[in-house]
Amino acid sequence: MSGFDQARSAGAVSGEPEPSPAKSPRRLFVKSYGCQMNVYDARKMADVLAPEGYAETALLEEADLVILNTCHIRERATEKVFSELGKLRALKAARAEAGRETKIVVAGCVAQAEGEEIFRRQKAVDIVVGPQNYHRLPELLRRAKTSRAVLETEFPAESKFDHLAAPGPSEIRKRGVSAFVTVQEGCDKFCTFCVVPYTRGAEASRPVEGIAAEVAMLAAGGVREVTLIGQNVNAYHGETRDGATTSLAGLTSRLAQVSGIARIRYTTSHPGDMDASLIKAHRDQPCLMPFLHLPVQSGSDKILAAMNRRYKRSDYLALIAEIRAARPDIALSSDFITGFPGETEEDFGATLDLIEKVEFANAFSFKYSARPGTPAAELQNQIPEAVKLERLLRLQAILDRQRLSFNRKMAGRKLDVLIEKPGRHAGQIAGKSPYLQPVQMEGSLDRIGDIVRVEIVSSCGNSLFGRLLPDRPAREALR
Ligand code: 5AD
Ligand code: SF4
Repeated sequence: MSGFDQARSAGAVSGEPEPSPAKSPRRLFVKSYGCQMNVYDARKMADVLAPEGYAETALLEEADLVILNTCHIRERATEKVFSELGKLRALKAARAEAGRETKIVVAGCVAQAEGEEIFRRQKAVDIVVGPQNYHRLPELLRRAKTSRAVLETEFPAESKFDHLAAPGPSEIRKRGVSAFVTVQEGCDKFCTFCVVPYTRGAEASRPVEGIAAEVAMLAAGGVREVTLIGQNVNAYHGETRDGATTSLAGLTSRLAQVSGIARIRYTTSHPGDMDASLIKAHRDQPCLMPFLHLPVQSGSDKILAAMNRRYKRSDYLALIAEIRAARPDIALSSDFITGFPGETEEDFGATLDLIEKVEFANAFSFKYSARPGTPAAELQNQIPEAVKLERLLRLQAILDRQRLSFNRKMAGRKLDVLIEKPGRHAGQIAGKSPYLQPVQMEGSLDRIGDIVRVEIVSSCGNSLFGRLLPDRPAREALR
């Protein structure tokens, strides 16, 4: 499908004189859709633009530069972008009347997938930049001064990881006690429903020491928990200091040595890449939190094969048993798709049966959405919307019940909670359990950043309420 073709960048790049960064502060507004990687990328774009004189604003109206960081994974994402761009065009015109210039950038996976089409449909857009090229934003902005419609959606030979700016001290402070860190990007799995291999490209892992340096900087700014993110993060195979390659388990063990880091999580994983070393790490590495997001998508072998997931339901169930044997208190989360082409009531029943067998603590579920350019979109036996929705609601009813029951079972248990922020009411503080549940309790704000022992008293929906236990180390010593 042509939307996925790699368009070349418009306009010449090389040989241009490099103007010095502007001194006057300009305002940047970034709006992100979709996954955590987009949230992380948005921070990186702000980091790259800060030395160019751009300061972030929360007010769209005062922005000299607006970046829409888009998502393409499911339905109507593209249409949402164009409707948003229509509004931005009006804003740009209004600001122009007041003598102020506004540049509009479309970034993210819609930018990658739609490319030039975006300029055709919305003339107010100045720059379209794919996820592999954010480090080039300053240069693209300079080009946009003299040429219209600057497009950059190539997959460069060198890794974008080599170029992205390190977070500055003020940026680090904004990240609080828990931060996301991209360690891997792209995917080679080609599940037949998924756009990621086309929009994010081939799998690439960031070298270990670069990640460790970023995590050390974050820890110095008060971060205690890092979530390692990647489209297929457990396929991680990054270079070590001595030129060897290590798996995700090697990376987590390295990051656990960073002073101040107490908790490590990772997302999102493919069951096929859950190797023995990673399962063992869940047993042996105390920093690795006992919560695992491991998308299964379907419980039917026929549908799993049609999705090109490369495992059977029995493989998934055996894997879960192995993981639970290594770490008995691990909580599991998953992604599900209802109404994939050809899914019969029997296939769907197999998914419900798998859910009953595994018992998930959390889950994300979606109606199948035909994505242009993916093989499944071409299949003849598409399922009517009403059926997809009816199955989704049935599936979610079971998953909701499991989640609530998981949360209710916490009452009476003693959990370690990482305190993140003030609570909902005065005198309260809030944090996260090892299982990623929000926990509220009475306590003073100087506990933010501490890992405290809490007795859970009750639960309400997703939230837990607890009582701070005074008799455990008040402050976990920083290693
Ligand atoms: N339709 C519905 N859900 C999808 N996902 C990815 N592509 C599609 C699609 N075309 C879901 C999968 C994946 C999650 C990130 O989004 O469940 O794991
Ligand atoms: Fe998409 Fe995940 Fe499959 Fe990769 S493994 S193609 S990101 S669903």
